[in-house]
This record gives sequence, C-alpha cells and structure tokens, in this order.
Amino acid sequence: LIDPSFSAAVIGWQQQHGRHVLPWQNTRDAYLIWLSEIMLQQTQVAAVLGYYARFLERFPTLRDLAAAPVEDVMAQWSGLGYYTRARNLHKCAQRVVAEYDGVFPVEQALLADLPGIGRSTAAAITAFANGTRAAILDGNVKRVFARSFGIAAYPGEKKVEEALWRRAEALLPEQGIESYTQGLMDLGATLCTRSSPDCGRCPLQARCVALATDRVKDLPVRKPK
Ligand code: ADE
Ligand code: SF4
Repeated sequence: LIDPSFSAAVIGWQQQHGRHVLPWQNTRDAYLIWLSEIMLQQTQVAAVLGYYARFLERFPTLRDLAAAPVEDVMAQWSGLGYYTRARNLHKCAQRVVAEYDGVFPVEQALLADLPGIGRSTAAAITAFANGTRAAILDGNVKRVFARSFGIAAYPGEKKVEEALWRRAEALLPEQGIESYTQGLMDLGATLCTRSSPDCGRCPLQARCVALATDRVKDLPVRKPK
C-alpha cells in the first residue's frame, strides 16, 4: 500500500526545517557524497565536519586517495574511530579507479558490492549523486518506521528487516528523492531520537502509531535476550 502522504510530509519538513548547507550537500560529485556517507555511518555530523574538510584537503580527488599509502589514510582518519571504515575507504577508492576508471557506478547493487558500502549507504550515494529512487534503511530510519507504523517486532530479526526494506521501497516518492532521503536521515537524527523524541515538532505526529498508542518509548523493540 503506497502512501504518498508519508513522503510528502518528510519532504515538506526537510525543505522547511532540515539541513541544507552541509559541505556534502548541493553537489552531485559522488566522491564528495561517498566520503561523507562513510564518515557519517557511525559518527554524528558535528564530529565529521572538521575531518571531512581536512580529508579533502589531503585527498582532493578519488585518484589522490587511491594512490596514497594506506598509512596516510589512517593518519587522516585518526580520531574518527571505527578504523575498518578507513581501510575499506582506501580499498574502495582503489577498486573504483581499477574497475570503473575512477567513476562511481550509478547502480545500487554495484555500489553495494564495493568495500564499506552496504545496501543503505549505496542507496544514499546514488540518491544524492544521481537522483535515483533507492531506499535507505539505517538504524535511525528503522526507528522512525518502527514508531510511525507501530512495528512491534525486533528490527534486527531477518524477517522483520526484510519487511522494513519492502516498506522503505514502497514509501519512496516519485519526485524529490534527495529531499526525502535527507529528510528521513534528519528526522531520525534530530527529532525521532532514541531517548528523547520531540514529537511535538514532528511532521509525522498526526499519523504516528507509536504516539497515538503511547508506545514511543517502547519502540523500536529491543534485542530479545
Ligand atoms: N547520516 C548518514 N548520512 C547522512 C547525511 N547525508 N546527512 C546527515 N546525516 C547523515
Ligand atoms: Fe518519532 Fe514522535 Fe515523530 Fe512518531 S511523532 S515519528 S515517535 S518523533
């Protein structure tokens, strides 16, 4: 069941209240977008900003990154944490140069085959870089879906996750994939937070099942023991 009011609410909110001037926005350069998505996988925007700027000063292009010694990449990443991301970043740059002549593929499945890029990150990259209709589903988005649709099952379970992916695909808007994708991310990161959601400012409040049934603090369901 496709519900255009969900995406319309997210897009409207993003255009009015979302983040618009981050250094990896307002570009279609897949290198700039990919780098930001990898840094943002496990690190918040405020902590990423300085690293992002310094990283691009040292490695202005994908080819600069691919050609650099891995020690230099690790040194630039030092302090950001989750260092597997940096090793995969370097490997990924080398593969895009070797296999795609330095141009990131557009197709989500090809992106997701590259080191450090999972299904959700692949979708974010191709949505922002190419305007492709592709569904994201990271931890923040799972929380927004679990609450707004009242999904009372552990999202880490395979069957549940598969159902969430189907829902994510079905909700995609016909137009405005960039605003929609950014809006979902920003909603999960700034309003529908894990421990203190700000439902009074949320564009989904009128249609949020968790809010209507007083289950916001119980959803998403925690990992069963
Ligand atoms: N988290 C993951 N990707 C992001 C993005 N593009 N903007 C803000 N937060 C994010
Ligand atoms: Fe999350 Fe509250 Fe919005 Fe529901 S109304 S989606 S719980 S912020």
